[in-house]
Amino acid sequence: MHRIIISKLILIFIGLFCLSGCGQNIPNDALPELLVSNDGIVISNFEDWENIRRPEILELFEKNVYGEIPNKEIDINYKLLKIDNDALDGKAIQKEIIATFSNGKESLEMNMLIFLPKNVKKPVPVFMGMNFYGNQTIHPDPNITITPSYVKNNEDFLITNNKATELSRGVRSHRWPIERILERGYGIVSIYYGDIDPDFDDDFQNGIHKLFYEDGEQPKPNEWGSIATWAYGLSKAMDYLVTDKDIDKNKVAVIGHSRLGKTALWAGAMDKRFAITISNDSGCGGAALSRRRQGETVKKINTSFPHWFCKNFHLYNDKEEDLPVDQHMLIGLIAPRPVYVASASEDQWADPEGEYLSLYHSGSVYNLYGLENLRSDTMPEVNQSQTIGNMGYHIRSGKHDLTLFDWEKYMDFADVQFN
Ligand code: GCU
Repeated sequence: MHRIIISKLILIFIGLFCLSGCGQNIPNDALPELLVSNDGIVISNFEDWENIRRPEILELFEKNVYGEIPNKEIDINYKLLKIDNDALDGKAIQKEIIATFSNGKESLEMNMLIFLPKNVKKPVPVFMGMNFYGNQTIHPDPNITITPSYVKNNEDFLITNNKATELSRGVRSHRWPIERILERGYGIVSIYYGDIDPDFDDDFQNGIHKLFYEDGEQPKPNEWGSIATWAYGLSKAMDYLVTDKDIDKNKVAVIGHSRLGKTALWAGAMDKRFAITISNDSGCGGAALSRRRQGETVKKINTSFPHWFCKNFHLYNDKEEDLPVDQHMLIGLIAPRPVYVASASEDQWADPEGEYLSLYHSGSVYNLYGLENLRSDTMPEVNQSQTIGNMGYHIRSGKHDLTLFDWEKYMDFADVQFN
């Protein structure tokens, strides 16, 4: 008898705890207002969104989350390093474009690896995304230039002394099903993120930062962390893509996994030339709502990766409710352009439900353009993709990764959006 009462009490306790906001569901009114301006104007049409509220939200993200790009003239030059019209056993055209960034004193090179399908009508739509260990890791093709940039050591890939070698060719090809992408009529553009900024806390002394600051000078609290530099790299790559006659500049999808998913979202928010934005398992600081505090939190991410966001973001450690934005507003910045968010069932660190809800809550901006929102705030079943209006979502079974399953869904989405 006693036992039954105690277990009932425990159940009631758990129920009350969850209702009181153990993080599972954030009521609508706990999120910052997407459609009310800083001066309290209610935004009810897309003109007001574009003229009033969108610029405000963009600035809030710049100043409080990712950081602003410093206002300094940098010279950028694009050069064709190689072209092979008979790459990948005759299936592809391969190009490598070197973008050289220079401030007159110092320079930095970013290598854009491009594969385009052959024997299809040009210009072609492409997916562009950054990679984690160098362009040579995305395919075993021996003609891909091995990145000369700093690379994180990795025992599995036999990368030591922070230098990539032949041994790392193709080690990440499972995330880049290039032949399949080409077969479906898409091109691929990939860039090693470390070309722009090496991913470790070096006090912002190397990478692109060294072109914008004097020796020892630090970015101001509202100026860019590494995620914003990577997004800047994608935007500068886009400056080249729009000039390449083989590529359809109106059909460039920006894609990224994990920290590079955060990067893709910020790039898609800032640069309206990206026709589709795809976030794969981007989690905290990406698609997931910060206020839920599920999995990785603002404090955890700022502690493990102090260089990713601007310094102002650290003010919100354990104070998510004080943030003037949440991540549904980041997706709102992408509207009305198509956006796809994906999660993985075993990736609770990235808070799949928070990723879904953020997409769902961005829907009010899509509505301003007469586009439909996702039907409900309940996530779809595992492995069922849900696409509606200009939004897409799926939660794949399995781990934190970018798989063929994910790619097939993104290409299905692009097939519809681009035709
Ligand atoms: C860590 C980090 C995540 C990030 C991920 C990744 O897990 O905590 O925020 O998304 O690395 O980029 O792989």
